Amino acid sequence: MIEKFVFATNNQHKLEEVREIAEERFEIMGLKDINCFEDIPENQNTLEGNSLQKARYVFEKYNINCFADDTGLEVDALNGAPGVYSARYAGQDKNSEDNIDKLLNELKDLPFRKARFRTVVALVLDGKEYFFEGIVEGEIIEQRKGEGGFGYDAVFMPEGLNATFAELPPLVKNSISHRAIAIQKMLYFLRHYQHSSN
Ligand code: IMP
Repeated sequence: MIEKFVFATNNQHKLEEVREIAEERFEIMGLKDINCFEDIPENQNTLEGNSLQKARYVFEKYNINCFADDTGLEVDALNGAPGVYSARYAGQDKNSEDNIDKLLNELKDLPFRKARFRTVVALVLDGKEYFFEGIVEGEIIEQRKGEGGFGYDAVFMPEGLNATFAELPPLVKNSISHRAIAIQKMLYFLRHYQHSSN
């Protein structure tokens, strides 16, 4: 039996990434596949709150099992900032270059540059809520390196590698990323989940 899920995203790349790692018995639809074109609210102050808000919204309005993700870059020397505000760190226009400039400026001359990407995936399944977390530890380097990726990739060097996320081939980055870890945990859960019969 094919099980249908909505991934509450308009980002085609994220959708393809998840479809690639999910087995055929899971049909993963994006928001436009269910004709959902509205701006889903995302105004909570935690990654858990935002991901759940999106997944719940779709489940309640469209009556279909749904998951959603939210990611933040948490920098220790900045007490976890930009965190849930990563996309809009330097302003409402969500400009990645400005975000990186602001981050490098805040960390100027600081030797302690430990950071992590954290993704929370919220799943609303048969009306119940589940959370899955993916974390990649690393550090913020002093200058951009690499051309690939998006967001903060050019200044984030994952622990154990001598390359930024922006220097890794997309297939490699996408298989070790915080998002991939959280999604893999959810898929593992779904493979073993027993739907109640009533
Ligand atoms: P979202 O929850 O996936 O939309 O991520 C929020 C923000 O975090 C993005 O706008 C990016 O600035 C940043 N971000 C999320 N994932 C990544 C990543 O894999 N690399 C670099 N930046 C990321």
